[in-house]
Amino acid sequence: MHQSQLVGCTSCVVYDRDVRDDDTIMTLPDPPRDLIGGIGAGDFWRIGNQIAGLTMATAGLEPDDRVLDVGCGLGRVALPLSRFLDQRGSYDGFDTSREYIEWCRSALPFDSARFRFHHFSILSSHYNEQGSIAPESFTFPWPDDSFTLAVAVSLFTHLSPSAATNYLREIARTLRPAGRMFASFYVLDEQSQRVAEGGTTDPRFTERIEEGMIGDAANPDAAVAFGAEWLAGALESAGMVFDAFYPGRWRQQPVISHQDIVIAHKP
Ligand SMILES: C[S@@+](CC[C@H](N)C(=O)[O-])C[C@H]1O[C@@H](n2cnc3c(N)ncnc32)[C@H](O)[C@@H]1O
Repeated sequence: MHQSQLVGCTSCVVYDRDVRDDDTIMTLPDPPRDLIGGIGAGDFWRIGNQIAGLTMATAGLEPDDRVLDVGCGLGRVALPLSRFLDQRGSYDGFDTSREYIEWCRSALPFDSARFRFHHFSILSSHYNEQGSIAPESFTFPWPDDSFTLAVAVSLFTHLSPSAATNYLREIARTLRPAGRMFASFYVLDEQSQRVAEGGTTDPRFTERIEEGMIGDAANPDAAVAFGAEWLAGALESAGMVFDAFYPGRWRQQPVISHQDIVIAHKP
């Protein structure tokens, strides 16, 4: 996989969380502590801003994009998008966690006509053990060519290889031609494999699977890393064209993003 390095992008903050376009203060609630643990460490809204900035820098986020946020969690990325997308743009986020989606719907003061949060009870050993929908065969409930940009942050790091294969296909199907994908992964290449074998990746990967490694055999969706060749093949067979790869901090690289970022597009 061809590598690019996002070492220091200082223009990555799209909007301050508290200031509206008209300079009045918008007070956004932090998600409750018991929910935020499943999203990740660090300043929640600041990281959302940073991800939106990275999406702009690497996948050409535009104000008129129709965005699908796969595994949208607690709306971390939706906030900066709610300020950046204009009337032509829209946002649909979906997640397997009912609590996350209920919180987004009730706590985030976005225009609900253009910012929609959807819940589907998809099986996940880490996020929804009672889920009734198999991620390997879940059909995203949108027609072909619905979106111009798919975002999947820290989602493929929680999917089995067969679920990831299906999600890549569904992303390709629901993107318009020329639509882009901004997705994060743990990609095992020569460098990260070496770090993983030394036990110093964050998170640690201990169990080998055919397609890469997982962190915990008892909870396989907790952390999943895919081999670079496997991922390149999965992108290609989904009908996506690989554009760029930015290694992340998880593999001991001094860069902005914790996870590796993969940019691709639908031809
Ligand atoms: C680490 S969180 C990241 C959330 C969000 N993308 C962000 O960056 O703030 C992973 C999210 O993926 C969701 N998730 C995990 N498996 C999923 C699946 N098969 N389908 C949809 N969402 C899933 C989880 O519920 C969780 O909200």
